[in-house]
Amino acid sequence: MDLSGKHLVLGLTGGIACYKSAELVRLLTKAGATVQVVMTEAATQFITPVTMQALSGRPVYTSQWDGRIPNNMAHIDLSREADAIVIAPASTDFLARLANGLCDDLLSTLCIARDCPLLVAPAMNRQMWMAPATQRNIATLRGDGVTILGPGSGDQACGEVGDGRMLEPEELLEDIVAHFQPRHLAGRRLLITAGPTFEAIDPVRGITNLSSGKMGFAIARAAREAGADVVLVAGPTALPTPRGVARIDVVSARQMHDTVLAQVDRADVFVAVAAVADWRPAEVSAQKLKKTGDSDTPELRFVQNPDILAAVAARPNPPYCVGFAAESEELARHGEDKRRRKGVPLLVGNIGHHTFGRDDNEIVLFDETGMTALPRADKLELARQLVAAIAQRLPASLF
Ligand code: CTP
Repeated sequence: MDLSGKHLVLGLTGGIACYKSAELVRLLTKAGATVQVVMTEAATQFITPVTMQALSGRPVYTSQWDGRIPNNMAHIDLSREADAIVIAPASTDFLARLANGLCDDLLSTLCIARDCPLLVAPAMNRQMWMAPATQRNIATLRGDGVTILGPGSGDQACGEVGDGRMLEPEELLEDIVAHFQPRHLAGRRLLITAGPTFEAIDPVRGITNLSSGKMGFAIARAAREAGADVVLVAGPTALPTPRGVARIDVVSARQMHDTVLAQVDRADVFVAVAAVADWRPAEVSAQKLKKTGDSDTPELRFVQNPDILAAVAARPNPPYCVGFAAESEELARHGEDKRRRKGVPLLVGNIGHHTFGRDDNEIVLFDETGMTALPRADKLELARQLVAAIAQRLPASLF
């Protein structure tokens, strides 16, 4: 689990977004974290400590005068074991107090007495967010090393639309998990292809393959967590875009090829995960093909698609190229052959028809030193291992 062994203090301050914090506790505990909830007096107006206690499975603290802590030093004790303090929602007032080092209640005292990272998720009306004082406080907090999560943009409880909304619980979870990942690729720019391609036959039909895009999207997320700037060129898939990743949707292999070549100059690393169709119908009918008799069947002729990975690898000064090979047999032999044929330093092999659409995978890395197997694991976990392996192999000239 992504947060196994992590102890978090989750602070709630006054704001209607407190209702989202109930879901956040559930997600954090499901991801393996222990969560100690601390609420300001104002937060208890929006959601009860009973709810937060039931979801976190631990007593909730709201006052610095709480006698339940034997030495009466709740502000020290509660954060002593913490791997991070997360304030969600963080109100305008709480941010102002934090930025100025005020500590007149338990949560603000906990924050100033901490010895661990502090992450805050602002939640407020758009005008309060844009107010010069708030922006000044945010800049101060950033300067003090506080991580600001969001805020998001969209419909607000007050009926207005704009910046200032607290991130959704799933988004907060993704950012909190990312916070704990090693930043192997900080400052690197990665270009990644993912998913299948779709090659049209007529306006309503086409050929495609069973790639779900899950592995490529997991690699995009893992690379982003590791600090990279990520551009993800995705074939048709309904998967959500990982946070912080720039996604460009394409349909056909030729569109994917043109998009990649337009982006590649800015990339330090190119990871070709997409299951690109090797062929496309030679002609695309402008109108839907119709049956003309009982026994007629259309003849399809195919032409070859451009090989995107080979085209990138063959450029002068190419980015560090990572290929994928989905084989149905003899992975060891085909993997190394394909690595040489495509002219790439690193190739990731898997048994294709076993992995498509699944949430886990088993991969083998081929490079000039030989092959390394990464045992079966969740695709995100494997993606993180792959990102670490790529970072380790990047030529020194890229740093
Ligand atoms: N690839 C690509 N463009 C293509 C075909 C493949 O960029 N037109 C990339 C894939 O993203 C993958 C790698 O090349 O990283 C291997 O793809 P694969 O289709 O397995 O290789 P082929 O060269 O088609 O080999 P085979 O005919 O053995 O399947």
